[in-house]
Amino acid sequence: VALTQDDLKKIAAYKAVEHVKSGMVLGLGTGSTAKHAVDRIAHLIQQGTLKDIIGIPTSTQTHEQALSLNIPLSDLDSHPVIDLAIDGADEVDPELNLVKGRGGSLLREKMIESASKKFIVIVDESKMVKHIGASRLAMPVEVIPFCWNHSLRRLVDLFTDSGCVGELRKCAGNGEAYVTDNGNYIIDLYFERDIGDLNEASDAILRLPGIVEHGMFIGLASSVIVAGVDGVTVKTK
Ligand code: A5P
Repeated sequence: VALTQDDLKKIAAYKAVEHVKSGMVLGLGTGSTAKHAVDRIAHLIQQGTLKDIIGIPTSTQTHEQALSLNIPLSDLDSHPVIDLAIDGADEVDPELNLVKGRGGSLLREKMIESASKKFIVIVDESKMVKHIGASRLAMPVEVIPFCWNHSLRRLVDLFTDSGCVGELRKCAGNGEAYVTDNGNYIIDLYFERDIGDLNEASDAILRLPGIVEHGMFIGLASSVIVAGVDGVTVKTK
């Protein structure tokens, strides 16, 4: 039987959960791939295979999922050091830099994953790109709602050489602005060409007042588990 994309996501997720040991504080990722990891962790807790796990959810969505599965939960204030975080990504480049946040949870994800001793990324092979932005899909930036249109223009102006366009993320149903877990908006940036040095791009974005965080996760992943139709590969820095 042919494997579906969701099967591949599940294979990558289950492989990552093999690294979970009893007693760990875990960063619980967000999205359709991370959801499989959270399900698996809950199953192993129920079985008694994993004990004394504390989960730190990266979104209200994952918080609700983990709560419904009875995973003991806490937050970064109480557990500032996380043993292992497991999460999906939208793009992964050859240096294991990521784009995240197409599902909207980039800020909490970045706070939690940058506080993790180890961060395992789980993807199906469609997420692998030659360079960040190459998928031509959105690079999300979380901005405060105040004068978001001004922030959008300033973001686009930073990347004129890369043929950048930006748009406010809207809710599919009612067309209203999408609001993040933190009460902010998201500007989705699209690049026609390579954006060049990622650290420079990151610094330029974060220097703009009104910008909260962007979806480039530079140098944060410890390893990436890639599930493809021909098997699983693990990429490590
Ligand atoms: C959530 O906002 C995102 O960062 C997700 O982690 C990322 O979009 C991957 O999601 P999927 O596993 O659903 O592709």
